[in-house]
Amino acid sequence: MNTKILFAPSSNVETELLAVFAVDASANKAAKPEIRLLASDESAARAAQTVLDGGEFKAESCETLLLHSPAGLKAKRLLIVGLGKLAKLTPHEVRKSAGTAVRFAKPRGLREVAIAVPVAEALDPKLTVRALAEGAVIADYDSDTYRSDRKDRSVQSLQVIAPPSADQAAAEAGLREGVIVGESQNFARALVNEPGNRLTPTILGERAAEMCREFGIECKVHSTDQIRELKMGAFLSVTQGSDEPPALIVMIYEPKGAPAGPVLGLVGKGITFDTGGISIKPSDNMEKMKYDMAGGAAMIGAMRAIAQLQPPVKVIGIVCAAENMPSGKAQKPGDVQIAMPAPGKPGKAIEIINTDAEGRLVLADGLTYAKQLGATHLIDAATLTAAVGVALGLLNAGIFANDEDTYQRFSDALKISGERFWRLPLDDDYRDVIKSTIADIKNTGGRYGGAINAAMFLKEFAEETPWIHLDIAAVAWSDEAKPWMASGPTGAAMRSIVEWIRSFAQ
Ligand code: BES
Ligand code: MN
Ligand code: ZN
Repeated sequence: MNTKILFAPSSNVETELLAVFAVDASANKAAKPEIRLLASDESAARAAQTVLDGGEFKAESCETLLLHSPAGLKAKRLLIVGLGKLAKLTPHEVRKSAGTAVRFAKPRGLREVAIAVPVAEALDPKLTVRALAEGAVIADYDSDTYRSDRKDRSVQSLQVIAPPSADQAAAEAGLREGVIVGESQNFARALVNEPGNRLTPTILGERAAEMCREFGIECKVHSTDQIRELKMGAFLSVTQGSDEPPALIVMIYEPKGAPAGPVLGLVGKGITFDTGGISIKPSDNMEKMKYDMAGGAAMIGAMRAIAQLQPPVKVIGIVCAAENMPSGKAQKPGDVQIAMPAPGKPGKAIEIINTDAEGRLVLADGLTYAKQLGATHLIDAATLTAAVGVALGLLNAGIFANDEDTYQRFSDALKISGERFWRLPLDDDYRDVIKSTIADIKNTGGRYGGAINAAMFLKEFAEETPWIHLDIAAVAWSDEAKPWMASGPTGAAMRSIVEWIRSFAQ
C-alpha cells in the first residue's frame, strides 16, 4: 500500500472514496444520538447533512454510510464511518474504523482511498495518525493465499488527509510509524497463515533470516547440532519425534550507541505444527495447530518493526521452532528431560506427563538462552494453552508477570496498541501442582488453572529476571471476520511488544 499525507481541506481531495469519521456526541444512552463529523472543515458535513438529519446513521462503532457524488466535494464517494460515543473515543476506535473503510473499499474493487484524520480533544494527533495508518494497513490483508480464484483486491494507495493546521512533522512521523507497525503485523500474520507443510521450522528460519537481511539486523539460525551443544534438552525433546529439523532463530538488534542495559529478550513459541506428539490431539480442529508458531511470528514481526523504528535499546529475539510429532523416536509420557543449564547450575530435570504440553518445554530453554545472551528483561509470547480461552474468552489474552515495573510498562503499552490482555496470578503456592516425585518439576499441573500452571512452569526458568508471559492461544486466530480485519491470523501481541520495547528507550 502506497501512503501519503496531505495537509489540505477534505473538499479538495480527488479520490474514489473519501472516508470521514463520525461520533455520537450525545451525553448518555437515553438521549437521542447527536451525530458529529470529526473533520477539520465543514464540507463533508454539508454533503451529508440531509441523510444525517434523517437519523438512519447512529455513528456506532464501525457503522458505515455511503454517499455517491457528494455535493461540494471532489471525491467520487463519501464514506462516513462511526467511531461510537464521543465520550469513549480512543485512537484504537480510529484504528478499527480506518480498517473498516479499507475493508469497505476492497470488495468494491476500489484501489485507492483517502481517509480524513479525525480531530477531537481526546485524540492525540500523532497517535491518531499512527493508529489510522495501522488500521488501514492491517485491514488490507486477506488470508486466501492459495485460492486459485483469489482476487487481489488490495487497496494500493492511501491518502491520509490531515488538517492544514496540523503539526506536520508529528503527523508524518505518525504515518511512517503506523505503516511500519501495520506492515510488520501483516508480515507476522502471513507467517501464521502458512500451513505446516509450507512453513517447516527450517523455512521459518529462512524467512526470519531474509527479513533480518532486508532490514539490516543480525540473525543466526541454529539446528539440531548446536541445540544439542547448548544442552537444550527440553527444546530437543520436542523436536525428536519429527523428521523436520528444528530451528533456533536468534535475531539481534543492537543500535549504535545503545546503552549496555537494559537488554530486552523476546522469546517466541515456534511450533510450526502441534499434533500433540504421543499424547496426540483429537482430529477435530487439529488443522488449526499450524498457528502454534504465532508467538514466534509475533516476535519476528516485532523485530521487523524495531529494526525500522530504531529505538536506542538492544533487543534479542529468539524463536524456538519445531514440529511436535508422534513417531518411534518421539518422547513419551514419563520420560525425564534435562533443560538447558543456567550458568553455574545443573539443568532442571523435567518429568514429561503430557507430550502435548510442548510449548513450555521449548520456551523454558529459550528463556534460559536469552538470559545467557545477556537479556535483563524477558518477554515471551505463545499459543500456550487452550485453558486461557476457557478462563478469559476470546477478547482478552492472558498476561503473567513476576515483576511489577515490567508489568506496568506493558500495561501502559496496551493503551497505545489498543490490544487487550488480562493479568492472571502467579503466586508461589500455585507451584505445588507441578511438583514431580522423580524430577524437579513436571510439565503439566492437572485439571484446574491450566494457563496458570503453564505460566508457573515458565516462571521456574525466568527465575529472578523480570519477565512477562503472554498466552495468546485464544486470540492469535480469529474464525470470524471483523469489519476492520479479515478472519484468520490476527498478529496478536506484536503491536504491544513493539510499544513495550519503545518504552525502554525513553
Ligand atoms: N498449542 C497448544 C495450545 C492451544 C490449544 C493453542 C488450542 C491454540 C488452541 C498447546 O501446545 C497444548 O496442547 N496445550 C495443552 C496443554 C495440556 C496438555 C496441559 C492444552 O491446552 O490442552
Ligand atoms: Mn501442544
Ligand atoms: Zn502447542
